[in-house]
Amino acid sequence: MREFKALINNELIDNGQWLEIIDPTTLQPAGRVTALSAQDIDNAYKAARASQKAWEEVELLKRMEYVKSFRNEIEKNKNEIAQIMSEEIAKGLKESLGEVERTIEIIDYTLEEAKRIDPLAMTGEGMGAKNKIGIFSRVAKGVILAISPFNYPINLAVAKIAPALVMGNTVVFKPATAGSLTGAFLGQLALNAKLPKGIFNVVTGRGREIGDIITSNKEIDMISFTGSVGIGNQIRKQGSSTDLVLELGGKDPALVLDDKNLEKYADEIIGGAFGYSGQRCTAIKRVLVSDEIADKLSPLLKARVEKLTVGKPSENANITPVIDLKSADFIQGLIDDAKEKGATILTGDKREQNLMWPTLIDNVTVDMKVAWEEPFGPVLPIIRINSVEEMIKIANESNFGLQASVFCQDISTAISVAKQIETGTVNINSKSQRGPDCFPFLGIKDSGEGVQGIREALLSMTRYKGLVINY
Ligand code: NAP
Ligand code: G3H
Repeated sequence: MREFKALINNELIDNGQWLEIIDPTTLQPAGRVTALSAQDIDNAYKAARASQKAWEEVELLKRMEYVKSFRNEIEKNKNEIAQIMSEEIAKGLKESLGEVERTIEIIDYTLEEAKRIDPLAMTGEGMGAKNKIGIFSRVAKGVILAISPFNYPINLAVAKIAPALVMGNTVVFKPATAGSLTGAFLGQLALNAKLPKGIFNVVTGRGREIGDIITSNKEIDMISFTGSVGIGNQIRKQGSSTDLVLELGGKDPALVLDDKNLEKYADEIIGGAFGYSGQRCTAIKRVLVSDEIADKLSPLLKARVEKLTVGKPSENANITPVIDLKSADFIQGLIDDAKEKGATILTGDKREQNLMWPTLIDNVTVDMKVAWEEPFGPVLPIIRINSVEEMIKIANESNFGLQASVFCQDISTAISVAKQIETGTVNINSKSQRGPDCFPFLGIKDSGEGVQGIREALLSMTRYKGLVINY
């Protein structure tokens, strides 16, 4: 059984308390991490605060070297990280390795981009100011709390940690419980990389027990949170003056407007809906399509769903167990509700504990929960709607606003519809997705606030500091 300790001020913490991490495939323990106390967590913030000024004063190129050493440790251990991740969140082994490799690319791009966060220089002459030069540099915000979700244990953690550190902030990082083995292993790798004391701390423990303690510490200057709307809104409501970036859930619609390339649309929709068993914020979570086109699209979707393999992450099955039994019960509840209200199950609706067969549901109507709620599992509802105006209306009636897809060969129509959809991003003729990671990534409405993406993270983790020279 794996055992990893929390990291505070470059010390691995053994306080005698442990949090067991369950392997979703076997439902047996995959390992354990330290369960930190309130005092431990306060110590992590004290260490982050104490080291911040000195870290910020280290010149940029030197900070980059440190982050690069951390990146090199990740690369050296990429197979081990993928193995750990695959065990603790049941993500296919190859996909897990892909996640680690994508993370390394993000760090590389972040380091390059950090060099280009140049100050803004202006004279103010256009406002009548004479004999002035203003130089507005981007400086660190201070201590950043990074909270990541279970579904991307390394990627969505490092996408916060790397920009924070390189810009001179110090970090307290809270991984999701499912994902904590990977998260705490990152602490070990930071030690190997010889990061300066206190700049990177990993606090482990169950969110519902220590979440409030973690988010309410007075030393926090900014919280960068990725996770569910429920917890995100809880953090929002705490109402502190701390800066927030929240990336939350989604209910991304795919609007299919023509039948000119249905095979390709079907490939994109299935890839978008069922990647990592639907446990992606950007998964396509509803298809909006007219009756006429649905009659042709549904069989194409069904054939593709039936080809998805179901099984173990170690065998790289397309569909693997969802994160836990509670999540499987919730997903099953959405399927059952749709069935009871008259929807047609085209395929799936089979379950062995938390292993759920991919389920395609046709004739879903707006009174069914699956039309609105985020299953975070392998379920795709098809909602038949005959006018484009009505499709846009249904797309926008959601409380979520992460992404959407519009499938249509007439680019003018596609753009016109895309402009009317209320989401952070609309993808024309592709599935919804966060990447490429240099793009800004954001949700509106309940899907979040602030913006992620490499450059945007560097900016959001800094603020202006002005220096005005009068001559
Ligand atoms: P979650 O339950 O909200 O957990 C997210 C993180 O918050 C975990 O680290 C969790 O720790 C922690 N947490 C729990 N209670 C807390 C509290 N009271 N205070 C502070 N932190 C607390 O979400 P999840 O199940 O891990 O992830 C799935 C959700 O994330 C989905 O809704 C998905 O759409 C969303 N998501 C969004 C994006 C995006 O970029 N928009 C990306 C990925 C995922 P514990 O695990 O210990 O509870
Ligand atoms: O789960 C949420 C992630 O931000 C989605 O990333 O579109 O690359 O899967 P992805």
